[in-house]
Amino acid sequence: MLNIVLLVVLLVELQADKLIQIQALWRHGARTPIYCNWNCMYFRSHEMLEGYLTATGMRQHYVLGQWMRKRYIEDNKFLSETFNASEITIYATDVNRTIMSAMSNFQGMYSNNGPDVPNNVEDSFLKPPNPNAEPDVDIGKSALRFNIQVLPIHMRTALTDIQLRAYGSPQCAQAARFQIENQHTDLVKNVSEKAHDTLIQFCNEMNIDPYNFTIFNMSEYMDTFYSSIYNDYPMPTNLKKETYDKADSTYSLTIALKLYQTWKQITTQSAPFFDQFFEYTEKALNKSQTSFKYVVYSAHDVTVQLIASALNITSAECMAQVYLGQEVQNKNCIYTYPGFASNIIWELWQDDTNNEPYLKILYNGTEMNLCNQNSTKCFYKHFKELINAQKGNFQNDCDIEIEPIIEYRVPIWMTTLTIIFIVIIVGFCFYGIYLYKQIRQDRTLLSQNL
Ligand SMILES: *[C@@H]1O[C@H](CO)[C@@H](O)[C@H](O)[C@H]1NC(C)=O
Ligand SMILES: *[C@@H]1O[C@H](CO)[C@@H](O)[C@H](O)[C@H]1NC(C)=O
Ligand SMILES: *[C@@H]1O[C@H](CO)[C@@H](O)[C@H](O)[C@H]1NC(C)=O
Ligand SMILES: *[C@@H]1O[C@H](CO)[C@@H](O)[C@H](O)[C@H]1NC(C)=O
Ligand SMILES: *[C@@H]1O[C@H](CO)[C@@H](O)[C@H](O)[C@H]1NC(C)=O
Ligand SMILES: *[C@@H]1O[C@H](CO)[C@@H](O)[C@H](O)[C@H]1NC(C)=O
Ligand SMILES: *[C@@H]1O[C@H](CO)[C@@H](O)[C@H](O)[C@H]1NC(C)=O
Ligand SMILES: *[C@@H]1O[C@H](CO)[C@@H](O)[C@H](O)[C@H]1NC(C)=O
Ligand SMILES: *[C@@H]1O[C@H](CO)[C@@H](O)[C@H](O)[C@H]1NC(C)=O
Repeated sequence: MLNIVLLVVLLVELQADKLIQIQALWRHGARTPIYCNWNCMYFRSHEMLEGYLTATGMRQHYVLGQWMRKRYIEDNKFLSETFNASEITIYATDVNRTIMSAMSNFQGMYSNNGPDVPNNVEDSFLKPPNPNAEPDVDIGKSALRFNIQVLPIHMRTALTDIQLRAYGSPQCAQAARFQIENQHTDLVKNVSEKAHDTLIQFCNEMNIDPYNFTIFNMSEYMDTFYSSIYNDYPMPTNLKKETYDKADSTYSLTIALKLYQTWKQITTQSAPFFDQFFEYTEKALNKSQTSFKYVVYSAHDVTVQLIASALNITSAECMAQVYLGQEVQNKNCIYTYPGFASNIIWELWQDDTNNEPYLKILYNGTEMNLCNQNSTKCFYKHFKELINAQKGNFQNDCDIEIEPIIEYRVPIWMTTLTIIFIVIIVGFCFYGIYLYKQIRQDRTLLSQNL
């Protein structure tokens, strides 16, 4: 009996599909506020309006890193026990909180197993050349005290980061126009109508003039409240729990409404991300020298919402249907706000029976249905076909202004005029010479006559 069990276990082991690559896109952890509304003077005077990653935010990503470690190092034995720079590449937007989130995350993934210095290196080689520079007395063999592991993080400057920041302008010049238009659609009117009483109640309790106060204004307050709740900053005492909850359900759909209301906006702005994504998957599948086992994108709520929308696991439409109490068309719909440290993980697997690569996608750690199917497994080829078929033309649809090549060519009219001018001058010269000769001739004739 035991033998049979062992045999089955062995067969299952042998039959196991193989993980080839993972890519992860996440939002940074909890941060300080970014909008000047509730308690603004306090936040401003304490220089807290910059959206800095807070201790809570660091902890969130540290724990996510530990979760990744359990799944991909301990259970799956996919990544090395210790950090190996040729297995992992990390991108963050050029914003302090996403860089620091990635750092916190990897401290959770590779806690205290950084490298030791080699045994037989002379002490003086372990120090910088500065006089009196000495390590901590108890540093031992750890390269860095407590065996901390440092890691490289890549960033593009904000203006060129079309992969992770295509939601805004100037990366996508049309994004500003999309956002203005999106705030005045029928869908927003319907949502605003349903939210009307909540808005009034909210303004009353917050002592705000409700004139021209929209669901988008209320969302900015909610954004600040989230900072407060996650970081133990004060909350407005007059705001009732009931009102807060109602405002919260409106908040969850506002980025989708404001930024990504149409399929065209989604497929255009997500195109550069998927280009980079496929570049990495192809390299892994081709077993290229420069391929990575784990690719990380540390970004923002708006990035997560954009890519989740392009994957059909959420949309402004389905979120609004949930909010308006209508029947939800997309059964796959995630209708919550992409909260702090929310994440999308792509697992690229190779099927053991036919060697076909396929993808699984986890949202906040839960496998999602993919590729318009009632299945969490989607063959890579099919996935790539779907994404490429829906992909917009980023350059054209975003109206990227390509610097015109200024040719310093002299206009034709000027050339013509110059030629005419030269011809006239030359003409005058010849005429002058002719006249001069005539006069001299006349003079010689005259002097001869005299
Ligand atoms: C790091 O990863 C690469 C690629 O997977 C591998 O070839 C190499 O042996 C690893 N290095 C160490 C020290 O484990
Ligand atoms: C990062 O932090 C520094 C120092 O606090 C600040 O001056 C800078 O504006 C921040 N940069 C970004 C992109 O958040
Ligand atoms: C908005 O509501 C009206 C009236 O209920 C309905 O006819 C219309 O289809 C809705 N529009 C959208 C975009 O949901
Ligand atoms: C209210 O909104 C209208 C239309 O958008 C605008 O013309 C008006 O200036 C706004 N009033 C205030 C006080 O913001
Ligand atoms: C609402 O938000 C808009 C756009 O951000 C802003 O111009 C307007 O002043 C805000 N209105 C109120 C009442 O806060
Ligand atoms: C990987 O291989 C496929 C087919 O062999 C090829 O079309 C593709 O360009 C290759 N990709 C990379 C990144 O080398
Ligand atoms: C994580 O995803 C689940 C759905 O899978 C959702 O209910 C939850 O709100 C999400 N959490 C965050 C922080 O976004
Ligand atoms: C998303 O849904 C649209 C409309 O149903 C479909 O055309 C597209 O192929 C889907 N894309 C993905 C990646 O599932
Ligand atoms: C999807 O599949 C599950 C189990 O595989 C099944 O229970 C469910 O009814 C299916 N749903 C649809 C809409 O086909």
